[in-house]
Amino acid sequence: MPIFATSELGARERYQLLTSLVVPRPIAWVSSRSAAGEPNLAPFSYFAALSATPFLVGVSIGHRRGVPKDTLRNVRETGAFCVNLAVEARLAALNETSGEYPPEVDEFARAGLSLAEAHAVAAPYVADSPAVLECRLFKEVELGPGDNALVIGEVLAVRLSDAVPLIPGTLFADTRAVRPVARLWGDLYALLGETPALPRPASGTPAAG
Ligand SMILES: Cc1cc2nc3c(=O)[nH]c(=O)nc-3n(C[C@H](O)[C@H](O)[C@H](O)COP(=O)(O)O)c2cc1C
Repeated sequence: MPIFATSELGARERYQLLTSLVVPRPIAWVSSRSAAGEPNLAPFSYFAALSATPFLVGVSIGHRRGVPKDTLRNVRETGAFCVNLAVEARLAALNETSGEYPPEVDEFARAGLSLAEAHAVAAPYVADSPAVLECRLFKEVELGPGDNALVIGEVLAVRLSDAVPLIPGTLFADTRAVRPVARLWGDLYALLGETPALPRPASGTPAAG
């Protein structure tokens, strides 16, 4: 069995190991706007739920040829962004928005998507998105000079469409109804498979056996 010392690997090899082992990763489809008013939309799978109180999500955004990607630049300029739920029905459009386009390209138009304006922050979102997290920049953590920045967003408002039912009596959104998409590696994606339910073990009970 090989053991890889990560410090002896190149950036590409580290990327390959990381993205193929941490799977499946949820995808934040991030919409934002530049200070000049240009809308922007791109997917990011270095994405995680961080905390419910405060309500925080994290997206790690890279640089392109030494320059921050448009999303990162926009979040720095405006302190606002939206995370649109990535779903199977819009996978082709999501992929289209990952192209390395110049800043003036509007990925909404490019992918044939309509935009709408968020309520709590100054950012657009994908119209008819099943679920949207409206985020204000909470903190940015540099993960390496000129490499990646962890953008932590505080979710000020959650927007749900009628396509996402709530589990009765709760605010669990049954996203199974809209078939969320996750990323594996390279050009591979994963769809939700079986969703087994397992009751949690009772606390304080001695382990059996
Ligand atoms: C499914 C998917 C996930 C991605 N995840 C990330 C990511 O986590 N971080 C990143 O920097 N780029 C990621 N990318 C690449 C960006 O989407 C791509 O660089 C995009 O052009 C950035 O757009 P922007 O310059 O408009 O911000 C991903 C691409 C795809 C297709």
